[in-house]
Amino acid sequence: MRVRSKQLFCQHLLQVVSLVSICLVANGDDDDEDKVILVKDSKEFGIHGNILSVGSIGKLPEWDSYGYIMYCPCMGRFGNQAEQFLGSLAFAKLLNRTLVVPPWRQYRNVPYSDFFKLEELEKYHKVILMEDFIQYLAPKHWSPGKRHGYCQVLNDQGCQMKENNAGRRFWDGFDVDFDDDDVVYHLNTNVDILNKRYKDVIKEWHTLFPASNHPVLTFKGAPASFPVQQGNRQLHQYIKWSDNIMQEAHLHMNKLFHGEKYVGIHLRNGIDWEKGCVWGEGRANFMASSQCLSKGQLLTSVMCYPSTQTILETTKMVVMVIDAKHVYIATDHDPLKEDLENYLQPIGVNVHYLNPILPQIDLAILGQSDYFIGNCASSFSSFVKRERDTSGENKPTTYWGFELESMYYR
Ligand SMILES: *[C@@H]1O[C@H](CO)[C@@H](O)[C@H](O)[C@H]1NC(C)=O
Repeated sequence: MRVRSKQLFCQHLLQVVSLVSICLVANGDDDDEDKVILVKDSKEFGIHGNILSVGSIGKLPEWDSYGYIMYCPCMGRFGNQAEQFLGSLAFAKLLNRTLVVPPWRQYRNVPYSDFFKLEELEKYHKVILMEDFIQYLAPKHWSPGKRHGYCQVLNDQGCQMKENNAGRRFWDGFDVDFDDDDVVYHLNTNVDILNKRYKDVIKEWHTLFPASNHPVLTFKGAPASFPVQQGNRQLHQYIKWSDNIMQEAHLHMNKLFHGEKYVGIHLRNGIDWEKGCVWGEGRANFMASSQCLSKGQLLTSVMCYPSTQTILETTKMVVMVIDAKHVYIATDHDPLKEDLENYLQPIGVNVHYLNPILPQIDLAILGQSDYFIGNCASSFSSFVKRERDTSGENKPTTYWGFELESMYYR
């Protein structure tokens, strides 16, 4: 059902607004994004350590006879991949299989541990970096001949694990090809750890796919939904930035803010988004909107694509509420820097637009802000929101288009 609704969604977008990039995101292929990042990343940048986790675990990985969950994060950009990662982590935990932690799929496969601490995940569940799985366990336990793809819908050609660009480049990055005999399942994978009803689904997985016969469940896409299930949001507490990322973020923060209060804002305003919002307006569910819409509430155009005036007024209001001295802008397109400066400099507020090579630096800095204003439908914003909610520091967040009186400083 999930698959079908995504395809429909894609077609609608194509018909109504001929929106290619969101269609591709929803459909699991995003060539566009990769090209953009490739260009942005061509400058030297010193944080891709690419250190395997043997160092962080301190020992060679042992085979887990309870089995593994592996998948390609084949859908969407970083924000979408992160939401599906949380659901996949929940699923692996419920099945008591080790999660093979995939790299982030950008212009190349970026190991999870380049951005985040693997050892924090281990506090929740057994995990292994995919790079380690391939290097240390695959030669013996998952060699060619044992590499079955698992998918829900089988067409004449089988699962076609590498049929789209995303899948091909992901698996090619590990020199993995699949055997011809794919495995089809009709069970649900999209669990919510707070929903007790999934106990039965888990039982069925164990019955139909015992680890003895199916040691490595290798899913074509994430065994989890986008957006993330409500109950799995809390798992974000185990996603902690690596020291490299935090050091880089703090360097910028010290230089820009000198320890003074700042409001972080996320402006999602590229042309793809503007068109997408025309389609999303009036819907109960559009992209990551479940992060902020309550039951029965519909997405409005001001939430999805706020006017410059709304952005100026909301930012100023928040700045005044917390008496901030700085505003930090992150955006995929237009930072509106001049507009914000003209509006905020008279009240003594500095406006910063860093535009770092790695969007993860933006995320980390937004995560630390004294107040965050995000876009309700954006998974980039939802990453920041979840990080703040699970940080234990009670960091306030609001969204464009939300009633001003609902904003208060805690
Ligand atoms: C889960 O798997 C571990 C091995 O990875 C095992 O020691 C443990 O007993 C399993 N738990 C259950 C409930 O089966």
